[in-house]
Amino acid sequence: MLKQIETGIWIISTNDWERRLFDELIPLPDGTSYNAYVIKGTTHNVLIDSSDIRKIEPFLNDLQSLSLEKIDYIIINHAEPDHSGAINEVLALYPKAQIVCTEQCKEILVDLLHTPSEKFMIVTNESSIDLGGRTLNFISAPWVHWPETMFTYLNEEKILFTCDFLGNHIASSEIYSSNDGRVYNAAKRYYAEIMMPFRKIIKRHLANIDKLDINLIATSHGLIYDEPEFIINAYKEWVSDTVKNEVVIPYVSMYGSTERMVKYLTEGLIKRGVAVKPFMLTATDIGELAMGLVDAATIIIGSPTVLTGPHPAVVYAAYLANLIRPKAKYATVIGSFGWKGSMVDQIVGLIPKLKVELLNPVIVKGKPREDDFRKLDQLIEEIVVKHKHLGILEGG
Ligand code: FEO
Repeated sequence: MLKQIETGIWIISTNDWERRLFDELIPLPDGTSYNAYVIKGTTHNVLIDSSDIRKIEPFLNDLQSLSLEKIDYIIINHAEPDHSGAINEVLALYPKAQIVCTEQCKEILVDLLHTPSEKFMIVTNESSIDLGGRTLNFISAPWVHWPETMFTYLNEEKILFTCDFLGNHIASSEIYSSNDGRVYNAAKRYYAEIMMPFRKIIKRHLANIDKLDINLIATSHGLIYDEPEFIINAYKEWVSDTVKNEVVIPYVSMYGSTERMVKYLTEGLIKRGVAVKPFMLTATDIGELAMGLVDAATIIIGSPTVLTGPHPAVVYAAYLANLIRPKAKYATVIGSFGWKGSMVDQIVGLIPKLKVELLNPVIVKGKPREDDFRKLDQLIEEIVVKHKHLGILEGG
């Protein structure tokens, strides 16, 4: 889909309507798009990013429909192949073009795509490219979410091209995000799954962006932001150290014991004014769980014992939580066993990167009894006290 966003500036938004899994890992309930941009100057033309190779045909059709006499530069803000995947094909069409990127991006592209190294032009924060009447600058922005990433800024129109950063996985016939819940949720899901491990670095990038005058944030996934403060303010909240009065409970139950405990905790916590988000892991969309982990103050992992350890679905969720590093302050484990097990130690061993205080686990033999529910009451009380101490729960 080709649309002009300013005179001489186009977005090529190649929709992947049917894609439902990214990196064979991340659910895509709304598909996604790979957004590239063409900017014409009076002397030079630029392509920013490209397309995933799986959509090469519509991407090249749109690019060629512009009938550009030449492309001088192909700017690659991020080497991951969903954006760089078509650059060899673009080079075949425009053989004099140079690929503009960071030094590390060049290294990765040469390895991933075998693009000839003489095709590259390395840029830094001090570089600029004059297109004739339009000027591009570059902002090093490592670790969003690979080490080589950068942003490109078009000075005259005040457009910031951020590639993955601030993006959202939505395939759409529109190009601009409206300030609504759908885009907010998609962007939050994207942040949770992809950017959250780099929360502290992203804070610095947001501070750098604050110094710029921005009319439009042009991402390379999903809908773009003509109200930049919408997404910037959302990100500032997500990356802040502030947690919300929420408990997330990812769990599995095989014969109902763990589920009874989860329901008891859920009802008890809600009665005390704590928001609860239980996720039954064998049915949940793992992206929904990741979103829940963005703000929650406390995580309770629930599992039955399977051959002395946690249920494999719980292992997966705990491993994933450890990777995406939510800012939760407290965590614990609840669950059950039949005859023997070391589930708690195994689960705790899976989450070393979570900077949490561990609360007392509650593990029951068989179906929970009265004294087990009293232990759950104690856990509820402990969480209420902790949340009050954080200043996120009043009364309770
Ligand atoms: Fe959209 Fe990190 O690639």
